[in-house]
Amino acid sequence: MEELKKLLTQNKKVAVLTGAGISHESGIPTFRGAGGYWKQYKAEELATPEAFQRDPKLVWEWYDYRRGVCAKAKPNPAHEVVFKMESYFPEFLVITQNVDGLHRRAGNKKIFEIHGNIFTARCTSCSNRISLGDEPLKEIPLKCNVCGSLARPHIVWFGESYDGDILDQCYSFLATTELIFVIGTSGQVSVPVNMAKYAATKGAYCIEVNPEETSVTDFTDTFLQGKAGEVLPQLWEGISN
Ligand code: APR
Ligand code: ZN
Repeated sequence: MEELKKLLTQNKKVAVLTGAGISHESGIPTFRGAGGYWKQYKAEELATPEAFQRDPKLVWEWYDYRRGVCAKAKPNPAHEVVFKMESYFPEFLVITQNVDGLHRRAGNKKIFEIHGNIFTARCTSCSNRISLGDEPLKEIPLKCNVCGSLARPHIVWFGESYDGDILDQCYSFLATTELIFVIGTSGQVSVPVNMAKYAATKGAYCIEVNPEETSVTDFTDTFLQGKAGEVLPQLWEGISN
């Protein structure tokens, strides 16, 4: 831990890549592992354009339920450390796969939500974006309040492409980042894993925080085994308030 703390004080450009595990201690279930099911469905069965086409009502019910869980959740000590990092490091970026908005609620401003945000919907035919708030939807499936067409969650689903502009900005930051934290991701989705790998091949020191080994552990420089809400505050202790 002491060596790592020293490393943190010596580097100025830091990226943090997060996955569902960082929000687990806030009460939001992860996708893979216990709690990863809703009714009898796995995320892979509902978070697809095909599932939405087949049954928009079912997919919206799932998102409405999850948005309710996210609205009640609060940032945990791991999010708080990531917030403190933003003002400590001169150059800093959070790249999150999470759609729960908890990094923003913790206070972070420098964030790319590469998989979208569960509190936003968009129209399937016009360019309208709809802010959903914390309350359950009155009508499911949601309709666009401008043109009346079907609206969908503003989420990158399996098989869909990422926002190219956001990816470019992530990669340009990762090309020269000195440190990268990879926190609470199983490493099953290739785009984020490739981002971490890219930073590592460009010379970034990689620190992974996870209770379990993942596909990221293979190329990580330091693996901190444990819960993010416990490990990160220990690591940050004595660095800044
Ligand atoms: N602290 C840190 N990590 C944790 C904790 C914790 N308290 N609890 C669980 N984890 C770890 C698990 O060991 C696992 O490796 O978090 C990881 C969660 O993995 P996934 O559920 O696969 O979540 P994630 O990697 O974010 O999934 C990627 O898949 O379904 C899609 O789009 C969705 O963004 C999501 C993507
Ligand atoms: Zn519309």
